[in-house]
Amino acid sequence: MSDSYTVTDPSGNSVELPKVQGTLGPPAVDVRKLYASTGGFTFDPGFTSTCSCESGITYIDGNEGVLLYRGYRADELAKKSNFIEVCYLLLNGELPTKAEYDEFESAIRMHTMINESLKRFFTGFHYDAHPMAMLSSIVGGMSAFYHDTTNTSDPEHRTIFARRMIAKIPTIAAAAYKYSVGQPLVYPSNDLDYCSNFLRMMFAVPAEEYAVDPVAAEALDVLFILHADHEQNASTSTVRLAGSTGCNPYAAMASGISALWGPAHGGANEAVLNMLNQIGSVDNIDQYIAKAKDKSDPFRLMGFGHRVYKNFDPRATVIREHCHKVLKAYGGDSDGKLELAMRLEEIALKDEYFVEKKLYPNVDFYSGIIYKALGIPTNMFTPMFAIGRTVGWVAHYLEMVSDPGMRIGRPRQIYTGADERAYTDIGSR
Ligand code: SDX
Repeated sequence: MSDSYTVTDPSGNSVELPKVQGTLGPPAVDVRKLYASTGGFTFDPGFTSTCSCESGITYIDGNEGVLLYRGYRADELAKKSNFIEVCYLLLNGELPTKAEYDEFESAIRMHTMINESLKRFFTGFHYDAHPMAMLSSIVGGMSAFYHDTTNTSDPEHRTIFARRMIAKIPTIAAAAYKYSVGQPLVYPSNDLDYCSNFLRMMFAVPAEEYAVDPVAAEALDVLFILHADHEQNASTSTVRLAGSTGCNPYAAMASGISALWGPAHGGANEAVLNMLNQIGSVDNIDQYIAKAKDKSDPFRLMGFGHRVYKNFDPRATVIREHCHKVLKAYGGDSDGKLELAMRLEEIALKDEYFVEKKLYPNVDFYSGIIYKALGIPTNMFTPMFAIGRTVGWVAHYLEMVSDPGMRIGRPRQIYTGADERAYTDIGSR
């Protein structure tokens, strides 16, 4: 088998381009010398066939429905590990020893508070601001507070940034929720684990004691693991592109939060619940399936389809199992949303449109049902995604800035505008 590709341009000139092959997955054509050799570019809007980097963090086999974090199956980690251990794995490449775990877990636990002045940022928002607007603003604002550790060529700075970001994102997300409901912000407690702490910051009120429900904490731990990373998705690629300019790391994180917000990406979990509310009843499913298939109708089946998975999203399978467990603990599927979602899935997966286009439920299809059962409001669903994905953004950012060969990301374009022309005075136009 050849180690290169031969590309022949329209003039008949051929150029040899090296093949790049990773540990797993398809090979790639190394086109870095294509423009210099042929004067031509590649063209790939949406990057359906383009690798932007080499990475050792996460591997996805879209056809087989496999997701690996540093070689370990994410669905196995969801069953056997915990989110803090998965954070260590994604950041360091190996599962921690007991001593390494204890040191890392303690460091995260001890850095959950935010600067008191950051709390004033919340009061600048109107009460009904979307929590994602607050999250991206406050995280971006961290770059105004933590400018003492932004030398990413310094390993110690990189470690402090990573731990601060992972530790503080739940505190900021919970504070955004508290501000939106007019309740006092709740300080984190060093007595609680990561997920229990978040639940308490979300739902405790000064007027009474708050007891964390272990079923809820365990469900969140699984959800955060399954959302932790997903190779070069839109928000992670945004973090890489922003970070490649050498900007403040917290500013790069804020760019990822903004990209995640879109309903085609992390905003889909909120859009799924809104869609289920819109469909309302099993009787209306066929009508909405027809709308989803109608090219003239902008309606899409939210939570279905994926750029990479052309099989079941392994995360959706685990989350669906947890739906049953959580709803059983919280009074069952009283509003029928899980039953509606499962019927929708069953009907869609038998429809030739969805079968032919390989549209399966993705990570966002079921997650909102669990969040809703835990009392988390719909507009907080995407911030929940951001809490889990922060470690993935940080891991990719650190992998990139630690690479001595890092270059600023700067794609080219196919220009389709006007040819050069001379300016004309307004009187003669
Ligand atoms: C996430 O990249 C990641 O890894 C993302 C993520 C992560 O962990 O970071 O996995 C998280 O973002 C999951 C995806 C959440 N988004 C949604 O659930 C929104 C609904 N899904 C679609 O918008 C869409 O499927 C995307 C955005 C997820 C994927 O878009 P692609 O790869 O660009 O696919 P496409 O839009 O080109 O669709 C291919 C065909 C099209 O029909 P044709 O033009 O070929 O005739 O499938 C159709 C689409 O119209 N299609 C759908 C559909 N998704 C695709 N039709 C109806 N309903 C849908 N949901």
